[in-house]
Amino acid sequence: MDRIRIRGGNKLNGIIPISGAKNAALPLMIASLLTSDTLTLENVPHLADVEQLLRILGNHGVDVSVNGRRERQSESYSRTIHFTCRTVVDTTAPYELVSKMRASFWVIGPLLAREGRAHVSLPGGCAIGTRPVDLFLEGLQALGATMEIEGGYVKATAPKGGLVGGHYTFPKISVGATHVMMMAASLANGTTVIENAAREPEVVDLAKCLNAMGARISGAGTSTITIEGVTSLHGARHRVLPDRIETGTYAMAVAMTGGDVILEGTGAELLDNALDTLRLAGAEITETESGLRVVRNGNGIQPVDVVTEPFPGFPTDLQAQFMALMTRSSGVSHVTETIFENRFMHVQELARLGARISLSGQMARIEGVDRLKGAPVMATDLRASVSLVIAGLAAEGETMVSRVYHLDRGFERLEEKLNRCGAEVERVSD
Ligand code: UD1
Repeated sequence: MDRIRIRGGNKLNGIIPISGAKNAALPLMIASLLTSDTLTLENVPHLADVEQLLRILGNHGVDVSVNGRRERQSESYSRTIHFTCRTVVDTTAPYELVSKMRASFWVIGPLLAREGRAHVSLPGGCAIGTRPVDLFLEGLQALGATMEIEGGYVKATAPKGGLVGGHYTFPKISVGATHVMMMAASLANGTTVIENAAREPEVVDLAKCLNAMGARISGAGTSTITIEGVTSLHGARHRVLPDRIETGTYAMAVAMTGGDVILEGTGAELLDNALDTLRLAGAEITETESGLRVVRNGNGIQPVDVVTEPFPGFPTDLQAQFMALMTRSSGVSHVTETIFENRFMHVQELARLGARISLSGQMARIEGVDRLKGAPVMATDLRASVSLVIAGLAAEGETMVSRVYHLDRGFERLEEKLNRCGAEVERVSD
C-alpha cells in the first residue's frame, strides 16, 4: 500500500492547476444512463472514484471511450470521455460495486426513469457516519415509484406509463438526492417541483448538462427547482466545472505554509463563504485572469470559528483541512460539524503531530500551537487524509501518511502539484 512522505517547512510558491470537480463528474457520468445518444464530458478528473464509476456504468451497458490520450489542459490530467448507453443491459447495481462508492447508488434515478425499474444495493455504512437513503426513496415515491427493500437491495418500480411529475419538499438538504430527483424528473410525465433542494455548484452543473441534453430544468442553484418532464433526452457535450474542494484545500495549504500561489482555472464564486473564512484567518485572496491568487506573507494565522453548512455555507468537505490550519493559529478556534456525524477522525491523527484539539459532541476546540512536529499518521477518509498532508507541510521534520488510497479517490496528482510549488512530498510504494 502506498504511503506519502512529507518533509515539512517549505513555503508554497507557484501555480497549481485545478482539476474538474469529482463531485460534479460523478452525477454527470451517471446522467449518461438517461439517453441512448452519446454524452461527452470534458475535464473529467483522473481519480479512483471516477474509475470505479466507469466500471459500474459499464455493468449497466454504458460504452465508454476516452480520447486517445490525455487532454493537455493547463497541464492537468483531466480527460474528455464519451459515454454511450444504447440500451440498458442490467438494471441491477450489485452490492460489490455500490458498497465501494456511495454515489453509485444514484444510478437508481436514471434507471427508474428510463427503464421503469431499478434494483440497487443499499450503500451500507461508511467511515463518516450512517448516511441513510431515506430522502432518495421518499423523493422518488413522490414521482409515483414504489419501493421495496429486500435482502439489502432497494427494488424501485415506476407506474405503468412511467414516472409522474410530483411535488417534494426535502426535510433535510441532500446533494445526492437533489441530483437523483433532477435526473428522474427529467423523464417523468408532467412537472416536478423540488423544494429545499441543495444549492451546491455541482447541482447547477448537472442541471446545465441535463438541459443541454434536452431537459427543462429551472431554478437550480436556488432552493426551489422546477423540472418539466420530456419524453426523451439526447446527447450533449459538457465541461465539468472546476473542483471547489480541491481549490479550497490548496488555498488552505498556502495559508498554512505561507507563500504565493495561483490556483489556475477556478473561481471565487465556487467557494463563497469558505474564502471569506480564509481571509479572516489571514490569507489574502484575489481573483486574477487565470484563477485565484492566494498569498500569506509575514502575518500569522488568526483563529476563526466555523460551522459546516450546505452551500453557500462553509463546506463539510473542507472542515478537516480548515482544522489543520487552525492548529497553527494564534489563539483558540472552534469547528462545528453539522452535516455528518463522526467526521472528526482526523483529530486523533492531528494530535500525533502536536495539535491541541478537544472534542465535545459535534464541536472541536482547537488551541493553536507554535509548531507541529512530523510523525507517522494514518488517513481515515478522503478529506481527512488531505488535512494530514496540509499539517505535514507545515510540520517540522518528516510526516508519513499511510492509507493514501483515500487521497487517490479525490485528489488528482497531489504530490506533483505541491512539489511544483516547492513542497517536498514523495509517494513511497511498499
Ligand atoms: C455529497 C458529496 C460529499 C459531501 C456531501 C455534503 C458527492 C459525490 N459527495 O455527498 O462530498 O460531503 O455532499 O456536502 O457529491 N442524508 C439523509 N438521508 C438521505 C440522504 C442524505 O439523512 O437519504 C443525510 C446524510 O447522512 C448527511 C446529509 O443528509 O447527514 C447530507 O448528505 P448529502 O448531501 O446527501 O451527501 P452526499 O450527496 O452523499
